[in-house]
Amino acid sequence: MTSGCTPIADDPDALVAKLTEIVDRLRVAPDRGKVADYIPELACIDPHQFGLSICLCDGTQMNFGDAETPFSIQSVSKAFTLAIALGRFGEGLWRRVGREPSSNAFNSVVDLELEKGKPRNPFVNAGAIVVTDEIMAGRAPRDALAEILWFVRTAAGDNAIYIDEALAKSEKVTGHRNWSLAHFLKSSGNLKHECDLSLGTYFHQCAIEMNCVQLARAGRFLAGLSAKDELVSTSHVRSINALMMTCGHYDGSGEFAYRVGFPGKSGVGGGIMAVVPGKASIAVWSPGLNEYGNSKLGTIALEELSLAAVWSVF
Ligand code: DON
Repeated sequence: MTSGCTPIADDPDALVAKLTEIVDRLRVAPDRGKVADYIPELACIDPHQFGLSICLCDGTQMNFGDAETPFSIQSVSKAFTLAIALGRFGEGLWRRVGREPSSNAFNSVVDLELEKGKPRNPFVNAGAIVVTDEIMAGRAPRDALAEILWFVRTAAGDNAIYIDEALAKSEKVTGHRNWSLAHFLKSSGNLKHECDLSLGTYFHQCAIEMNCVQLARAGRFLAGLSAKDELVSTSHVRSINALMMTCGHYDGSGEFAYRVGFPGKSGVGGGIMAVVPGKASIAVWSPGLNEYGNSKLGTIALEELSLAAVWSVF
């Protein structure tokens, strides 16, 4: 680095100043995207909220805006279930789900038919349903769900993380697209449990509520910031980060990699868990979504932070 050009990442005061500026501006930005309305409980979320939390490699954590307001993590949960499934079944998982990016929406039915019932990756809905179905093998759905919740709480170092039952139930009643994906998987021989059991577990994992403070802490294992690596092996962390980079934002993953330059996993609740390997774990939340179903202002915040801190991995 040339003198006079120290990245703000090396200067805590400059990092706080930059993040304060970004968050203060985006909290009142007029063009906020559109909240997900296909899940009734998410349709009434106030889009004028913005939170960000960042954990750094020296153990410090900084919180900004609405960082302590809980939100529905939705598809961010898929990074945690992938970690659990890789831990339990290793490479065998890839017999049931692919590792390639998708060019259609996260809930695409046509992709699944074209791939003959093998979802393109573990982050599109069909792939995440298969991963959850795999985690359920040999035990009751409630036990699989208990492990998912245990994993998230352990990663975050916080037991005060719960499931929004009303949200899970409402998605079970209205999530017809996911029902069609589950039935297609079942008809292809790629769902071991009955559709209502696998989907019931999947809807509940999506309905986990966390705030940015908790989510940034939960992502530390992916950034290599945890004190010990016993939760997930280094090789699985590498695999998960590769998939978050290439598939974590669905058909908007190329755009996210181009603009932000480090791995992230989004959810339609407006949260993004992002990882700067060896440097930072970041959670950002703004409920308005872009055309791909990813947080519009959350992506902008990460893009600006990445540029200022010189954190792109490219
Ligand atoms: O299955 C669904 O459609 C939702 N529970 C989760 C989708 C989601 O979060 C997509 N991410 N941006």
